[in-house]
Amino acid sequence: MLFSNHFKAALALTATVLCLTPVYAVTTVIPSTSFSSYTVFESFWAYLYPWGSDHNGSARMVGSSTDHSHIAVVSSTLSLIATPTTNPVPPTSTANPNPAIHYASGAIHAKAQITVTSANSYTISGDFSAPTVFGTWPAFWLTAVNSWPPETDIGEWKGTNNNWFNTFNTSSIVKSTLVAWPADLSFHTLKAVLTAESNNVDVRIDFYMDNVLQTTQFGAGFVGQPLWLIINLQMEGSAGSPGPSGTTTYKVRNMLVTRTGT
Ligand SMILES: *[C@@H]1O[C@H](CO)[C@@H](O)[C@H](O)[C@H]1NC(C)=O
Ligand SMILES: *[C@@H]1O[C@H](CO)[C@@H](O)[C@H](O)[C@H]1NC(C)=O
Repeated sequence: MLFSNHFKAALALTATVLCLTPVYAVTTVIPSTSFSSYTVFESFWAYLYPWGSDHNGSARMVGSSTDHSHIAVVSSTLSLIATPTTNPVPPTSTANPNPAIHYASGAIHAKAQITVTSANSYTISGDFSAPTVFGTWPAFWLTAVNSWPPETDIGEWKGTNNNWFNTFNTSSIVKSTLVAWPADLSFHTLKAVLTAESNNVDVRIDFYMDNVLQTTQFGAGFVGQPLWLIINLQMEGSAGSPGPSGTTTYKVRNMLVTRTGT
């Protein structure tokens, strides 16, 4: 039997790929069904920030397995809901720089920590309906479990029609890439792929919107550093003030986190 040259070339290429490419297992860290019920949700996610209810904006996060007024999963969609609050106790955030609390809102974090090593790579994606009005500060981000930074932000909206992709080497050495984001609350996909650089010290992060590569950033010394994955609807802070006087909702669906390798 005679093989065409094309077929022979394809065979040779296949053989080369099979020999040279190690086979890495793909593990689902958070399945796309994690918002399908509170039982499934609570097996992959915990309420509030890893450190509690407060951070550096004017929203105090509220939520538990018995209080879904600000953190809800309905129709396989996570809703984080911010409402103006009166007489908060205590009146200011317990986190630096201690802004006055003006809202009750929602935050969640993944129970699994994410640690990029030379033996793995992570892919983190989801569909986001993010408010962009002045004074609303939703985010989808990874931050250090131990000393800060590392931090890398896959979604951060600061009250304008842009998403910010950010990677912090230090508090002042930051790479930010702004990408236009529609104001109509339509869902768009964000994805980040995190892979160790060949120096086994730094991490390369490829950021996508609607499956189109937008930017590549590099995190200094991120290899081996455990990270929290957080979704939150902060208010005011970096997004300006005063924020909205009514209810603001930030929605997420089809969240998927996979790890290739170990
Ligand atoms: C952060 O460090 C990485 C690794 O050294 C480097 O490639 C990147 O350019 C740095 N980012 C900034 C904003 O300087
Ligand atoms: C708030 O804290 C986060 C890190 O936890 C940081 O990325 C951000 O720059 C801070 N923003 C303000 C306005 O303090």
